[in-house]
Amino acid sequence: MHYDRRKFIRTGLVGTVAMASGCNSIGDPEESTGKITGDPSAGKGPIVLSTWKHGLMANAKAWQVLKANGTVLDAVEQGVSVVESDFSNRSVGLGGRPDRDGFVTLDACIQDHGGRAGAVAFIQRFEHPISLARAIMERTPHVMLVGKGAEQWALENGFVHRDVDIPEVRQEWQDWLKTSTYKPIANIENHDTIGMIAMDANGQLAGSCTTSGMAYKIHGRVGDSPIIGAGLFVDGEVGAACATGVGELMIRTAGSHTVVELMRQGRTPDEACQEAIRRIAKHVPAKEDMQVGFIALRADGLYGARSLYSGFDYAAKTNSVEGLVDAGYDRERD
Ligand code: GLY
Repeated sequence: MHYDRRKFIRTGLVGTVAMASGCNSIGDPEESTGKITGDPSAGKGPIVLSTWKHGLMANAKAWQVLKANGTVLDAVEQGVSVVESDFSNRSVGLGGRPDRDGFVTLDACIQDHGGRAGAVAFIQRFEHPISLARAIMERTPHVMLVGKGAEQWALENGFVHRDVDIPEVRQEWQDWLKTSTYKPIANIENHDTIGMIAMDANGQLAGSCTTSGMAYKIHGRVGDSPIIGAGLFVDGEVGAACATGVGELMIRTAGSHTVVELMRQGRTPDEACQEAIRRIAKHVPAKEDMQVGFIALRADGLYGARSLYSGFDYAAKTNSVEGLVDAGYDRERD
C-alpha cells in the first residue's frame, strides 16, 4: 500500500492547525469545532469516530472498553449499544420512529479488521441489533439474517424480546397518518443512523452501524445500515468507512466500500469521502433535500468526513481530541 506521504503530512498539519485554533476542550464536548481533516496523533490509536451528536456517548463507552483492554470489536459493539438503549433517540433502537404501518424495525451490521462481517435487518422487538449482528458473524456460517428468520434465530440463541411503547412516538405516527397520504418521508431530517469506526492501540480496526431506519418507511424496507459495503466497510489493510443519510443513495453506490477503495488508491479519508459524495450528488438534483454523509479512518490513523449538505457532524475521540467535528460538505443547506 503506497500513500502519498507529502499529502498525508500536509493534511495532518492542517488538522493540527485547525485543532490548535478551534479545538474543543474535553470539558466542552458538545460544541462543533469546525472542520478537522486529521488528527495530530495520526497513526497512534486508539481512535474512535461516530456519526452525529449521539456519537459522543457511544465514543465514551467505546473508549472505556479500549482502555480496559477490550478488543476493538467489543468497543464498536458496546459503543453503539449505548445509543440503542437510549429510548429518547428517534432514529436508533427501539425508541425509533416506526414504519408507515406502525412497526419499529431495526437494522445493524458489524465488521472486523479481517473482514468478517455480521448483519441483521428488518427485525422487531430486540434491544441490541448490533449484538445480534455480531452473534450471527461469530456463531453462524452466514453474514446476514433478516425478518422472522433472524428473530427466530435470536430467540434460539439467548436473545430476548424487549417491548418499548413510547406514547409520544405513537402519537406522532398517528398524526403523520392523518396528513401523509401513507407516503414515506425521505429527507434531510430523517437519517440519523449511528455508525462507528475505530482503531485500537495496535492498529486493529472494526466498525458498527445500527438504525431504526427511515421514519414511516414502507413495511419491509431495509436501508444501507445493515449492508456491508453500503453502510459500513472495513478492510484492516486500508481503513474503514461508514455512512449516514438516505440509505438508498448509499446502496446504489456501495458508498462505504467506495470510500475504502479510494483510500486504497491513495486518497486521504477526506478526499475519498468527497469523491464518494460527488458520485452520489450526480443522482441528487439540487434542492432535493436528501442528506448523506461518510466518515472514514485510514489504517495509518488519518481520518476525515464529508456530507452532501451542510449540517453533518461526527464525534471524534483520540488521545488528544474529544468532541464534535463539522464535516466538509458539497451544498449549503437552505
Ligand atoms: N441510513 C439509514 C437508512 O437509510 O435506513
